[in-house]
Amino acid sequence: MASCSRSTHPVPPHYSFGFWLTSILLFTASTTPTTKGCVEGEGDALLAFKTGLLGGPSSLLSSWRGRVDCCRWSGVVCDNRTGRVVELNLNPDYLNNETSIGGEIRPSLLLLTHLERLDLSYNDFGGIQVPKILGSLTELTYLDLSSSNFSGAIPPQLGNLSSLRYLDLNSYGLSTDGLHWLSRLSSLIYLDMGGVNLSMASRDWLHSVNMLSSLEELHLPDCGLTDLPSSLSHVNLTALATLDLYGNLFNSTFPNWLWKLHNLSYLDLSFSMFHGAIPAGIGNLTGLRELYLDHNSLSGPIPIEIGKLSNLTVLSLSNNSLEGTMSELHFANLTKLSELDLSENSLVVSVDYNWVPPFQLRSIKLKSCKLGPAFPRWLRSQNSIEDLDMSNTSIEDSSDNFIIYILSTLLIIIYQGQFHAPLAI
Ligand SMILES: *[C@@H]1O[C@H](CO)[C@@H](O)[C@H](O)[C@H]1NC(C)=O
Ligand SMILES: *[C@@H]1O[C@H](CO)[C@@H](O)[C@H](O)[C@H]1NC(C)=O
Ligand SMILES: *[C@@H]1O[C@H](CO)[C@@H](O)[C@H](O)[C@H]1NC(C)=O
Ligand SMILES: *[C@@H]1O[C@H](CO)[C@@H](O)[C@H](O)[C@H]1NC(C)=O
Ligand SMILES: *[C@@H]1O[C@H](CO)[C@@H](O)[C@H](O)[C@H]1NC(C)=O
Ligand SMILES: *[C@@H]1O[C@H](CO)[C@@H](O)[C@H](O)[C@H]1NC(C)=O
Ligand SMILES: *[C@@H]1O[C@H](CO)[C@@H](O)[C@H](O)[C@H]1NC(C)=O
Ligand SMILES: *[C@@H]1O[C@H](CO)[C@@H](O)[C@H](O)[C@H]1NC(C)=O
Ligand SMILES: *[C@@H]1O[C@H](CO)[C@@H](O)[C@H](O)[C@H]1NC(C)=O
Ligand SMILES: *[C@@H]1O[C@H](CO)[C@@H](O)[C@H](O)[C@H]1NC(C)=O
Ligand SMILES: *[C@@H]1O[C@H](CO)[C@@H](O)[C@H](O)[C@H]1NC(C)=O
Ligand SMILES: *[C@@H]1O[C@H](CO)[C@@H](O)[C@H](O)[C@H]1NC(C)=O
Repeated sequence: MASCSRSTHPVPPHYSFGFWLTSILLFTASTTPTTKGCVEGEGDALLAFKTGLLGGPSSLLSSWRGRVDCCRWSGVVCDNRTGRVVELNLNPDYLNNETSIGGEIRPSLLLLTHLERLDLSYNDFGGIQVPKILGSLTELTYLDLSSSNFSGAIPPQLGNLSSLRYLDLNSYGLSTDGLHWLSRLSSLIYLDMGGVNLSMASRDWLHSVNMLSSLEELHLPDCGLTDLPSSLSHVNLTALATLDLYGNLFNSTFPNWLWKLHNLSYLDLSFSMFHGAIPAGIGNLTGLRELYLDHNSLSGPIPIEIGKLSNLTVLSLSNNSLEGTMSELHFANLTKLSELDLSENSLVVSVDYNWVPPFQLRSIKLKSCKLGPAFPRWLRSQNSIEDLDMSNTSIEDSSDNFIIYILSTLLIIIYQGQFHAPLAI
């Protein structure tokens, strides 16, 4: 018997009050007096759930033994007031140095009717399907099945978890042929389906995701998505702060509705086969802190509106076909810029000779860029560079042959700390 709650164990009439009291003290000796122990039945449910699981002797399951308050087992969290199990956290990292678990998910889990948070991430379930029964844990607000070696189709029953606020299914091996079920999760704030094969859901994915009007973080990297509709009648995703669509197969221009996501602070559209120009509309995303548009086929000049993104700390535009000049007008308001990567384009970076950069960069990557004559001067103004790549750069219209020599022969150089000295000429 795992259950040992004082209130759910009736006092046997033939035992004295003193015996009863001592039992309580023994059972609850190491808990705080106000904390209620495991509710009758829930410890047994957990033990039945454990029989389906495999885990070495050093896994957290080794603490799951009868006669001990189940609220004190590794990974089990009870509500202080009611003693109900409200959280199961079987992520082996949670308690440091635990080994992973696997096996099968037994339906006895459903007896934990007050379960709000379930974390099975970073285990190895040997490629079994995500069990349909998880869709019956209707009190769940948090579900993390990431990197746990589940595979096959995601059961649409997960769409019944209408209280869910956090859903992480990030893993390679899962797939779904449609995301209709997702649109029923109207309380979702966080969604990560990175690596899930969505190639069969490519047609309707945005329609379903756009129903999630509370969403603040969306991660769909490496999902094999091919469709990014160019129009969207109504943008519901006004709370979205993080959008990560890295590594998909869109083969399209940027749709204009992107620039209506006014709350974005993190936007990653890299490695996704985008072509065409960077539209001026990007200047509407004034809250952006990190912008990754690298490794696409973008062409044309960098719009001056990028200069409106005054909170930008990371600007990554490398490996495109961008051309034209980036000048002090682009940079004037980027006072927080810390990482700049313009490598592998046909860009000229040319600023006025007397311009003083408003930022201190930590990382500068300008591989294959052409640099204006004032460039060495503004580079010398940067005191915190840790990472510098100026390979294959050339300086235009400069009479300073020594600097041309240094810059054109530099390969990838990574400075740890100051680099005033080598360039002090
Ligand atoms: C339970 O009580 C502990 C300490 O008494 C407290 O730290 C914790 O936040 C409480 N948990 C809940 C869910 O109320
Ligand atoms: C971590 O686990 C390994 C293997 O189970 C064990 O040999 C080692 O002693 C553990 N380390 C700590 C600090 O618990
Ligand atoms: C997932 O499970 C399958 C089947 O047991 C196994 O072959 C594979 O190595 C596992 N993958 C990972 C990443 O653990
Ligand atoms: C759960 O979802 C499935 C599939 O989406 C549906 O058929 C079923 O009726 C739902 N069950 C409940 C209790 O809502
Ligand atoms: C994704 O699923 C599609 C359709 O089932 C399949 O053709 C494709 O190979 C899968 N992609 C990956 C990377 O497994
Ligand atoms: C916006 O979201 C609401 C519910 O959150 C939904 O009813 C509506 O259909 C959505 N609009 C669009 C265009 O998807
Ligand atoms: C914008 O995103 C932040 C998270 O970065 C969130 O706290 C806030 O509620 C969002 N704003 C709106 C208007 O939804
Ligand atoms: C991208 O789309 C164009 C037509 O718009 C097509 O010609 C081309 O083959 C596509 N590229 C890939 C890799 O699908
Ligand atoms: C950018 O914002 C302005 C003013 O808020 C608006 O008129 C314009 O339509 C927006 N552009 C895009 C592409 O969303
Ligand atoms: C920039 O960040 C600051 C501080 O985090 C914030 O108060 C401000 O609203 C942001 N600016 C814009 C234009 O979003
Ligand atoms: C920079 O900020 C100033 C003052 O707010 C503004 O007038 C100017 O247009 C901004 N520059 C760019 C490129 O957005
Ligand atoms: C970036 O572009 C260069 C030159 O076009 C190419 O050699 C390199 O492989 C690209 N890098 C990646 C990661 O695609």
